[in-house]
Amino acid sequence: LHRRSFIQLSSAALAGAACPRALIAESETPLREVAAQKRLLVGTAVSNAQLQRPEFTALLAEQCSILVSENDMKWRATQPEKDRFEFARADAFMEFADAHQISARGHNLCWHEYNPDWLEATATKENADALLKTHIQTVVARYRGRVHSWDVVNEAIKPADKNHHDMVNSVWLKTLGEDYLAIAFRAAAEADPGALLTYNDYDLERDTNEQEKKREAVLALLRRLRKKGVPLHAIGIQSHLHANSNPGTWNGLNKFLREIERLNLQAYLTELDVDDRELPSDISERDRLVAELYRNLLDNALRHNCVKAVLTWGFSDRGTWLNGFHPRKDQAPQRPLPYDADLHPKPAFYSIRDSIVARP
Ligand code: G3I
Repeated sequence: LHRRSFIQLSSAALAGAACPRALIAESETPLREVAAQKRLLVGTAVSNAQLQRPEFTALLAEQCSILVSENDMKWRATQPEKDRFEFARADAFMEFADAHQISARGHNLCWHEYNPDWLEATATKENADALLKTHIQTVVARYRGRVHSWDVVNEAIKPADKNHHDMVNSVWLKTLGEDYLAIAFRAAAEADPGALLTYNDYDLERDTNEQEKKREAVLALLRRLRKKGVPLHAIGIQSHLHANSNPGTWNGLNKFLREIERLNLQAYLTELDVDDRELPSDISERDRLVAELYRNLLDNALRHNCVKAVLTWGFSDRGTWLNGFHPRKDQAPQRPLPYDADLHPKPAFYSIRDSIVARP
């Protein structure tokens, strides 16, 4: 059976219903195949609930060549108590990726959010090094050889906090100082020498003064890590975008990506989505402007050969984090992602595909 027909038949059988309308028209090449022809991995973040939906997993298997777990590999999920690790959902995610020959990203090993309560209550200058190393060694070694790249440290830079080197004043900075980043990256490299180790952050994309300051601070951090000989292979540019009437320019991002290439680092667009809460209620207008912003960003970013992967932060509007964190004033569900709540491809899907096809 042709692969797509096999997926359609299997998902229809599983769904016990007519073939879901999730799959794009037979004539259209899936994103993962278009991307492979342009030296790119393409995919999305996925939740454990979505992995239980056959029509959803069929779509992921058809379209994606890389996936990341949205929450199930974060510290609160994997080490909920100091002396208890919990891997059932992380294992399920990794098994799904392996079963469908999809690359897996690990997200994330060290952050100041989504930590279990015991961590901040327990960490001190004396024990933080051991706490961080034990967590990273245990989690990373479990999936040794199976993870494409780890977000080792997430969102460590925030110029607005006005701390030394523009660092976020996290439990890690308070207990270990800036060395916590080197400790984390070295522990990850030791536990899985084959994984590509990534620093991941947001607000690096737009031509604003704040984001220019952040790009400069992140580049300074990456250079300090490089100078110390820290094992570091990639920058994760989260790409959480906000649609408004002005599509904007990307001069700062283009300059940043040229610097990333000079540092001989890879770049991944790790959490791409378009917040549409400032757009009018009309759905076709919202979808058009969201798709336009996807196209503008990707046309610029994909000109840089260092960009090796593009992942949206969710595949279907139904699961977007934005409805809980950044709801629209009109209470309408946000429409930030390539597929709608019924798994129909939206203009944003075609923008992503067309931008990948147009990559030099
Ligand atoms: O699973 C529990 C559920 O049992 C409970 O009933 C419910 C209400 O309290 O909470 C559920 O957990 C939520 C979890 O998402 C799963 O849905 C947490 O409260 C909520 O805080 C958590 O939010 C996640 C957030 O990171 C955590 O900070 C979002 O889904 C996730 O999309 C978001 O992702 C982050 C990236 O990791 C880093 N970059 C920014 C991005 C967006 O904030």
